[in-house]
Amino acid sequence: MSAMNEKKITMAKLVVFYSRADENYFGGAYRYIPVGNTEKVANMIAEVTGAELFKIEQQVPYAADYDTCIKQAKKDLQAKAQARPALVSMPDSLDGYDEIYLGYPNYWGDMPMAVYTFLENFDWNGKTIHPFYTHCGQKGNIKTTLVGKTLESTY
Ligand SMILES: Cc1cc2nc3c(=O)[nH]c(=O)nc-3n(C[C@H](O)[C@H](O)[C@H](O)COP(=O)(O)O)c2cc1C
Repeated sequence: MSAMNEKKITMAKLVVFYSRADENYFGGAYRYIPVGNTEKVANMIAEVTGAELFKIEQQVPYAADYDTCIKQAKKDLQAKAQARPALVSMPDSLDGYDEIYLGYPNYWGDMPMAVYTFLENFDWNGKTIHPFYTHCGQKGNIKTTLVGKTLESTY
């Protein structure tokens, strides 16, 4: 077996994350950043674990300016059956991965709705999921119930 094939077989980890660059709020000041906080953490996890990366991206991204973005995200969260924003792309399958690191920012005490779009598209049975999230001060648990499975990320 070639070294490349060996690598393919053992590469069964994936870091899936949602993250937004542009304007964010940092301890009292607004600042534009080129790479979002969760993406930075996702990159670190991928480096340490050797996992592949997949970024969840909305077809219609939230605004670059922070105040508009938080209003848009709240509207999606509070929409009657909650919004499920369409994604730019989705992996064909997660069959090749048994361990998934799932990262997202805390949006109004929940996950961004686009993360639900992603989660609801796959069967999570038999997968080990390591949820992680970033926030701007509101630590705690974010609990998400998937079909038959509860995900709880604790800071
Ligand atoms: C729409 C929106 C809602 C947010 N809601 C919360 C919140 O409820 N609690 C909190 O601690 N931080 C909240 N934040 C801050 C983000 O969780 C924090 O800045 C996070 O690190 C952003 O990750 P990102 O840079 O990967 O997008 C919110 C930020 C946005 C844009």
